[in-house]
Amino acid sequence: MDLLEYIESRSEEHLSDLKEFLRIPSISTKREHKPDIQRAAQWVADRLRDAGFSKVDIIPTKLHPLVLAESLEAPGKPTILIYGHYDVQPPEPLNLWTSPAFEPTVRGGDLYARGSVDDKGQVHIHLKALAALKKSTGKLPINVKVIIEGEEEVGSVNLWEFVVNNKDRLKADFLVVSDTAMLAPGVPSITYGLRGLNYYQVEVTGPAQDLHSGVFGGAVPNPITILAGAIAKLHDKNFRVTVPGFYKDVVIPSAKERKAIRALPWKESEFRKTVGAPGLCGEKGFTAGERIWCRPTLELNGIWGGYTGEGSKTVIPSKAFAKISNRLVLNQNPEKIAKQVERHLRSLLPKTVHCRFDVLSTGKPWVAPYTHPVFQLASRALEQGFKKKAVFIREGGSIPFVNQMYDIFKIPCVLMGFGLPDENAHAPDEHLSLENYFGGIRSVALFYSNLAQL
Ligand code: BES
Ligand code: MN
Ligand code: MN
Repeated sequence: MDLLEYIESRSEEHLSDLKEFLRIPSISTKREHKPDIQRAAQWVADRLRDAGFSKVDIIPTKLHPLVLAESLEAPGKPTILIYGHYDVQPPEPLNLWTSPAFEPTVRGGDLYARGSVDDKGQVHIHLKALAALKKSTGKLPINVKVIIEGEEEVGSVNLWEFVVNNKDRLKADFLVVSDTAMLAPGVPSITYGLRGLNYYQVEVTGPAQDLHSGVFGGAVPNPITILAGAIAKLHDKNFRVTVPGFYKDVVIPSAKERKAIRALPWKESEFRKTVGAPGLCGEKGFTAGERIWCRPTLELNGIWGGYTGEGSKTVIPSKAFAKISNRLVLNQNPEKIAKQVERHLRSLLPKTVHCRFDVLSTGKPWVAPYTHPVFQLASRALEQGFKKKAVFIREGGSIPFVNQMYDIFKIPCVLMGFGLPDENAHAPDEHLSLENYFGGIRSVALFYSNLAQL
């Protein structure tokens, strides 16, 4: 049977299989979900066997297992490595979900569930494209290696060690990843740049223990006031980060690239609608697109301390905390930036408090040329699958594995994302457009089938 006909004839089966995958609450950050993580890894391994992979391994790590598979039965043809993650973010706050996070539900052409777009739905696209190729033609037309991890949402902490110790097993001509988004509905996109990510936790301690704010207030350092004051100084009035040296190594995109970015079919009005805030802001001198894709940032991800329960409690807390992160761009060095941020923050704190600064993770940015013919093949496959022209974009998010692989092998990385920016990844009511899901299966299957001709 023709490949596209085969895919079309299986669409209901594909959707119900995806729902089964999404029902597993594979939340990587919570210990109590360890058995679910295990189940999700097993589920992926089973589907890879269905797709004709004879060698499928579930490899334990210090945290969550990796699923690795190999089908090397196309001598002389290219070898690809497909990467994705089966772990998801926690679903909280639960009360903001229209239908429960782990009970996949279709509404208005979208599939709602945690992991639908990030990244189980997109992993599923590849599983089904591979199965369709195998089942409609009898064998895979190219050599395929697959690595699906369970720690992406917690920073891929144990992945690096595996990668450096298993270079031969992972070696491929191209890396293929679907864990990003399209520029807009009807605009299939290939991503050629991601920002890097550093993550920190800060703990400021004033008094040795919580104090009665009437008995002591006015004469002791309040760690919340002090931390908030320091945080408020991390940006200037033009929204530039005040950390000395922060912008020193930043590469400004070429005039040609800036022009190409400005010419993309991207509407600031749509972006504004997705954000839903009364107004936008950002670093002076750059468009919103450039701010997200090409400029580094410093963000507050959380701040807490003292009493936050019901009613009132008069207390001067002993401690205040913040979670802070940087998005990084070429050629910033994550370790160097982490030191600069720590030094600057400490310099903004008075001697009346102690500060503990922990670097939770660091990660490099990635930008690569898309001149290799494989990108034209990918772009054509997207055009065939979506009946729309594909574009090349950068994105602001981070995928540690992509820059790790690029650093080691310098191979072309083809990031074909099938999400949309307003599909609520990491938020309540995460969803995936079914049109893009099915378009994704068609495009990926065509891409792999065309790759055999390269
Ligand atoms: N799929 C995202 C990364 C992403 C999102 C890339 C949007 C491009 C556009 C991934 O699962 C993710 O959420 N990554 C984290 C970093 C990770 C180290 C926790 C991120 O970008 O915050
Ligand atoms: Mn992801
Ligand atoms: Mn994510």
